[in-house]
Amino acid sequence: MSIALIDLHPATTDLKRVVQEGLQRQPRQLPAWLLYDAAGSQLFAAICDQPEYGLTRTEITLLESHAADIANAVGSGVVVEFGIGNAKKVDPLLRALRPKTFVALDISRSALEDSLTGLASQHPAIQMLGICCDHSQLEGLPTHPWLIGERLIGFFPGSSLGNFTPKDAVLLLKRFRHLLAGGPLLLGLDQPRDPALLEAAYDDAAGVSRAFAFNLLKRLNRDLQGNAEPQNFRYEACWQADQQRIEMALVSRCSQTIQLAESAWSFEPNERWVTEHSVKYTPDAAAIMAAQAGWQIQQRWHDDQDQISLHLLVPSN
Ligand code: AVI
Repeated sequence: MSIALIDLHPATTDLKRVVQEGLQRQPRQLPAWLLYDAAGSQLFAAICDQPEYGLTRTEITLLESHAADIANAVGSGVVVEFGIGNAKKVDPLLRALRPKTFVALDISRSALEDSLTGLASQHPAIQMLGICCDHSQLEGLPTHPWLIGERLIGFFPGSSLGNFTPKDAVLLLKRFRHLLAGGPLLLGLDQPRDPALLEAAYDDAAGVSRAFAFNLLKRLNRDLQGNAEPQNFRYEACWQADQQRIEMALVSRCSQTIQLAESAWSFEPNERWVTEHSVKYTPDAAAIMAAQAGWQIQQRWHDDQDQISLHLLVPSN
C-alpha cells in the first residue's frame, strides 16, 4: 500500500487576504473552499446522506451502472480527482479502470488523509498521491515520480463546478485543460429542476446544511481571531431563477459589527453574507461552457429523470 502527500495548503496570511477581499464585496461572499475545514468536510459528508440531497447517491449509482462503458470511453492513465472530499464517488471508477496511480486534490488535509487511507485499503495495488491545495489556483501538478510520462484523466464529480460563478467555472475548466495536458475530463453536473426540491436539498429538515454554513463563522473566528456571533445570523437557501442557481446565505438578524481578519465589518439588518452559490447547468449550457474553455463534450451519461449528468470532455483541438 503506497500513499504520498504533498501539502500546498494556502498559508494563514493568504487566508486573511482572501477573507478581507471577500468581505469587501457587495454582497459579501467568500470562496466556497473556505467552508471545508475538517469539521466542514464532515458536515458536507453528512449533507450527502440527507434524504433531500440526492445528488451524491444518484451520481454514485450512475457511475456504478456505467463504469465499464465510462472506463472504455476514457481509456487508461492516472486518475486525477479535483476535490476528493470523503472519496465516495471515485471507487467505481477505480474498480473499472484499475489505474497504476490515483491523484487526489483537496483543500482539507484531514479529509485527504482519511480518504486516501480508506481507498488504499480497498485498492492496495494503486499508488495514492494526495495534494492538499486550492485546485482553482494550481498552476501545474507538482513533479512526482509516479506522474512522469503518464496520461492524465481528470475527474470532477458532484457538481462542484456549480460552486463557481459561470465566468470562474470557464477559467477553472481552462485550468484543468492545462493541468491534464491533453487528457480527458469526466465532469459531473446537476441540472435545474423543481425549485422546491432544490431549496429543500440545500436546507434539509435535519439542519445539516444550516450547520455547514454556520461552521464557516466558527472556522473564521478560530483561524482569523474573529468574534462573529452565530445567533446574530439566520440561514437561507433560495432558488434564483434568473441565474439558475441556489444562493445560500447567512442573513444578519440585526445591525452589528464584527471583528475578523484584523478589520471591523458592519452588517445592516437583513444584509446577506453569501456562503455559496450552486449553479445548475442544462446539458446545452454545459456544452457552451465547455466550448468556451476549449473542451467538447464527447459523451454524456445521465440518470432516469435526467437530472444529473456525467459529461466526458475532450480537448476541442
Ligand atoms: C460541493 N457542492 C457541489 C455542493 C453543492 O451541491 O453545491 C455544496 C453544498 N453546499 C450545501 N449543500 C451542498
